[in-house]
Amino acid sequence: MNDLALTLLSTTLQKNTTNPDDNNIWILDENISSTDVAYAANTCSNLPTLICNRFDLQQELKEKKVTAIFSDFDFSGYEDNSIDQIFFRISKEKAVVHHVINQAARVLKPGGKLALAGYKNEGAKTYIDKASKLFNGSVEKTKGGQSSHLAIISKGSVNADKLLDDKNYGELRNVTCEDFTFLTKPGQFGWNKVDKGSEFLIQQLPTLLNQLHKVPTTLLDLGCGYGYLSMMAAKLVNFEKITATDNNAAALRSCEENLKVSKQEFDVIEDNCAHSIRGRFDLILCNPPFHKGFSVENNLTQLFLEQTHKRLHAKGNAVFVVNQFIPLEQKAQTLFDKVSLLAKNDSFKLVLCKR
Ligand SMILES: C[S@@+](CC[C@H](N)C(=O)[O-])C[C@H]1O[C@@H](n2cnc3c(N)ncnc32)[C@H](O)[C@@H]1O
Repeated sequence: MNDLALTLLSTTLQKNTTNPDDNNIWILDENISSTDVAYAANTCSNLPTLICNRFDLQQELKEKKVTAIFSDFDFSGYEDNSIDQIFFRISKEKAVVHHVINQAARVLKPGGKLALAGYKNEGAKTYIDKASKLFNGSVEKTKGGQSSHLAIISKGSVNADKLLDDKNYGELRNVTCEDFTFLTKPGQFGWNKVDKGSEFLIQQLPTLLNQLHKVPTTLLDLGCGYGYLSMMAAKLVNFEKITATDNNAAALRSCEENLKVSKQEFDVIEDNCAHSIRGRFDLILCNPPFHKGFSVENNLTQLFLEQTHKRLHAKGNAVFVVNQFIPLEQKAQTLFDKVSLLAKNDSFKLVLCKR
């Protein structure tokens, strides 16, 4: 296990899950690998209820015979004071961490425990401090390698005035960027902004559409987020059907609501790289999740291209937007007959792929 914060949490999981009567929860977020989770899960005498917001993680765990609930960290089904322990390897997004800590303060039994683990540079010490003030109970702290921290915080008499700002995590809200308004919520990629790459794709889309002999009737929005590409494309084309897919629970919820407004027929599908999606599409739009570069997310890049190739109609067009430095064309050429540069600006390029 390379994640030393998760190693600290696993040791706690192993030690503190021996009572079969306990009602425990383990929150899993984006920076956890299914291999590490499965390994840690197998060391627990009584596996807590696992909750994750990533569909691909849930599916990978299923293959490893570990059951997890796919949800946007929705605690609404849990009564106040009903849970014995919550285990949480902190997330990258502050609103998610604050949401989990606030909900833990509500659902844990008096004396129940929240185990928080993370690195110093992820803000672990600050989160532990804030949670301790809110919980107002005892705190047991452990340090691990590379400035990793773990704290087991007991619920005392909760200080309601110390609740953390979770940006109303569970709620969808309208956000306006320039003259574009959309429904969205925290817990997903760039939830309160328009991605500059996607914006560039939409600016250039009319030029591509003008060059086509036939107007596309079906659209696949691969890695749809809150649905920006689908919503904007629907302003240009009257599709017979829009299919939008993502692996993130918050993104799927937001996209579903946004596409209701577009008044075109649509399906929003929870999936890992469109694996369960059948049929072929005239137009596929994708701003893939590998902006950190090929070395980091190499397999994901390959999967997005392979799935696009499978799902693209013989005469269809797929447009990818990526950062300039990503050699997408090289990878695409191993799959597609025609790969061309549709447009570029100072930061991004649009790559057109045809079968
Ligand atoms: C760069 S964002 C683009 C979001 C949106 N299309 C936009 O233009 O704003 C990439 C999206 O891919 C999604 N994603 C990451 N891994 C995925 C996977 N394995 N399967 C499906 N979607 C995934 C992320 O949740 C994120 O919404």
